[in-house]
Amino acid sequence: MKKDIIVAPLRGLTGKEFRAALSHHYSGITACMLPFFSVTESSLPDFKRFSHNFTEEELHFSAPYLTIPQLLGNNPAALAKIAAMLVNNGYDYVNLNLGCPMPQITKKMRGSGLLPYPDKIAAVLDAMMSVPNLKLSVKLRLGLTSCNDIFQLTDVLNIYPLYEVIVHPRLASEKYSGVVNLDVMKTVLPLLKTRVVYNGDITDLGSFFEKAEMFPSIEGYMLGRGIIANPALAEEINNGVTVDYDLWYRRFVEFYSELIDLLEARKADTTSRLKAYWRYFQRNVKDGKEVYSQMVRKKDIEDMRLHI
Ligand SMILES: Cc1cc2nc3c(=O)[nH]c(=O)nc-3n(C[C@H](O)[C@H](O)[C@H](O)COP(=O)(O)O)c2cc1C
Repeated sequence: MKKDIIVAPLRGLTGKEFRAALSHHYSGITACMLPFFSVTESSLPDFKRFSHNFTEEELHFSAPYLTIPQLLGNNPAALAKIAAMLVNNGYDYVNLNLGCPMPQITKKMRGSGLLPYPDKIAAVLDAMMSVPNLKLSVKLRLGLTSCNDIFQLTDVLNIYPLYEVIVHPRLASEKYSGVVNLDVMKTVLPLLKTRVVYNGDITDLGSFFEKAEMFPSIEGYMLGRGIIANPALAEEINNGVTVDYDLWYRRFVEFYSELIDLLEARKADTTSRLKAYWRYFQRNVKDGKEVYSQMVRKKDIEDMRLHI
């Protein structure tokens, strides 16, 4: 059975330029989830304020993948209001972020800061699920500081007809370090009634097959740092084979060239944005460490271009 492949939201990395370049040069992606929009009581349901985060294709519904906006917040009415605005603008699949591990977010009981409070999550889901025509999913970790959180939460999640639950099997306190907890994932899976998407540490075919074999019931996979490091990863997973390096590199250079052009067009701080990508690109490019150490010293964007 063909599995869904969703590009994970990574703030600062999987922005509109990355998604556009990725989808122009590679295939195999079912959906892209946008880095979170922060929602507070004072957020206005004004789509124009959000629209600059979408690619032109996403705004015209011509992207070759489903676009999934993600909301981060804890105010039920405000989240429902913004979700309704997104549905009214054609984005009927919305995700709720229950996974962000950053202390400045969690201490305000947002992101994974909500995980120890199933009642608060229920209040948010009550409000959001009342939005007509909304397909809602949640993206979560195993807990804030303990896996007890997810075991307390499954009963609450099962009350709602969620579209899917995306699980990144780490605690928030682990941030992105250590290894994913596949044993707890295995215990949680049968407790959830909804479709489950797996997310975490899929970097190549081997690490994909490890999860696919361990969790045959999983219907979708979300790729984050792995697809930044290797933009061909979704294709490789779909085809079940890795691409020959020379061909891979030629395509990577074309993708990278468009990424630079798009970042340049936005007049963003292109050199520092690109340096952030190189933390990941170095993993798959030949002599990557050396290339990375040269790239981080560059001051001019033209010197960061690659040539075949
Ligand atoms: C720099 C960075 C930014 C991230 N931003 C978001 C975000 O906006 N929303 C979210 O749900 N997760 C965010 N994440 C988490 C990723 O979506 C993903 O869950 C995590 O990287 C694990 O998947 P991976 O091992 O495939 O990268 C971020 C992660 C990183 C490293």
